[in-house]
Amino acid sequence: MKSKKYWEMINRTVSEPTQIKGLTFLKGQNIFIPVMAIHRNPQLYDDPDSFKPERYEDQDKTIAFQAFGFGPRICIGMRLALVELKVALINVLKAVRFDRMPDTPEVLTFDPNPNILQTDKDIILKVSPRC
Ligand code: HEM
Repeated sequence: MKSKKYWEMINRTVSEPTQIKGLTFLKGQNIFIPVMAIHRNPQLYDDPDSFKPERYEDQDKTIAFQAFGFGPRICIGMRLALVELKVALINVLKAVRFDRMPDTPEVLTFDPNPNILQTDKDIILKVSPRC
């Protein structure tokens, strides 16, 4: 099976020796929480590679949803960001329509670049004005 690489991560440094479920974390160790791998885990989400944003509705209360982190250091701007994104999307979608062009795959695959999350193929869309 082709292995998948997901780079979107949250990191932490262990401040005191800790044991969780038989695993020992030593002071000073760096821990990486693989956000995208969790979001694409078929044990947590059905058909995880399909674009179904509704799968995350009400997910901000479960630890399986990590787009904004979780716990005491969760993103302080989460609600603002979600409102801003919706307002921006509504305004853009009121003005133009997007259609996927044939070269753009329906299921996106990602570039295994450790610095930024980006698709490995260009996303080519046709943009038409809504009259
Ligand atoms: C789509 C937009 C955004 C995403 C995906 C996002 C994601 C995140 C994530 C994952 C963290 C936690 C990092 C960690 O646990 O190490 C975080 C923290 C934070 N975010 Fe955001 N963020 C977004 C927008 C914003 C906005 C709009 C603001 C401010 C207006 C903001 C302010 C902060 C701050 C101050 C923290 C640090 C919180 C703390 O450490 O207590 N973020 N963000």
